Amino acid sequence: MAISISLINMKGGVGKTTLTVALAEFMALEHGLRVLVIDLDPQSNASACLMDLERWKRRNMRGQTIMRLFLDPFKNWPVFSAQEAVVRNASNIGGGIAGLDLMPSGMELMDLQDSLMSVFSEQDEQSPLIYLLREALGKMLSDYDIALIDCPPSLGLITQNGLAISDYYLIPVIPETMSIHGIPQIVSRVNRFKRQTGLETQAMGIVATKYRQQNQEHLHNLSDLRAGAQKKGYQRLLETVIHESTPAANAVNFRLQPAKLRDKYASPRPFNEYRDLSREVLKYVGK
Ligand SMILES: Nc1ncnc2c1ncn2[C@@H]1O[C@H](COP(=O)(O)OP(=O)(O)OP(=O)(O)O)[C@@H](O)[C@H]1O
Ligand SMILES: [Mg+2]
Repeated sequence: MAISISLINMKGGVGKTTLTVALAEFMALEHGLRVLVIDLDPQSNASACLMDLERWKRRNMRGQTIMRLFLDPFKNWPVFSAQEAVVRNASNIGGGIAGLDLMPSGMELMDLQDSLMSVFSEQDEQSPLIYLLREALGKMLSDYDIALIDCPPSLGLITQNGLAISDYYLIPVIPETMSIHGIPQIVSRVNRFKRQTGLETQAMGIVATKYRQQNQEHLHNLSDLRAGAQKKGYQRLLETVIHESTPAANAVNFRLQPAKLRDKYASPRPFNEYRDLSREVLKYVGK
């Protein structure tokens, strides 16, 4: 059975998607693990990073995307099938990585996003809609070693579907003061979700992203994040810090066709950071 990890933060633009994609590629290529990326975000950024646009359009036309899964309860007949939706050999590295699969999000539903979100955010934590993803995946997770779940920037029902299948949750945070103020709220919302559902998902910790070395505020906040981990209930600040870098920002372009991890992620940075982070995450989950 896969160990599942949700990347969550209700703040947008903190690097959830970039990290999900990089961790998946490193875990599949450097560690030989079977990895499933689940793109729960209607913005579909992870899907755009990991698959070809034409292939994605065909999935959309057949309704075989995660967004269709969330629409099915409001339709008269269900269409979504996890086995049909899953995209094998995802990523632009080497023309696709054997062992890295993607459950894509759906672009045709961008327009419906607001109404969908408002329906979902009105639900409480005891809603059966929390279990849509779990039910749709069925035994599929047993085909993988790791599932990485890229969540939208909210803690509403879509993210709760991710948490409902997650053994761990990881919080990417830019170490700026505004961002770190929101962390206690994330932890307390997840703890409330756990209490109300009886589900178990453990905090793996915070991973600092887009770190600016010369920035005193970032430096100061990193040590606060490290010191406050146990007291604030997010377990730890992971040792690996992801610096802000242009190659990290450019890695989202699927049209580039890098042959290897080192071509996509320039060395030493961010290559070494993503390599170290994937090792660290795997250590915490016992893989
Ligand atoms: N280490 C980094 N250095 C520089 N830019 C980065 C880095 N990581 C991510 N970015 C860029 O920051 C932007 C936001 O990143 P990303 O989309 O991964 O964040 P997100 O948390 O998934 O956002 P959202 O909440 O909107 O889904 C993107 O343009 C991405 O290319
Ligand atoms: Mg994202």
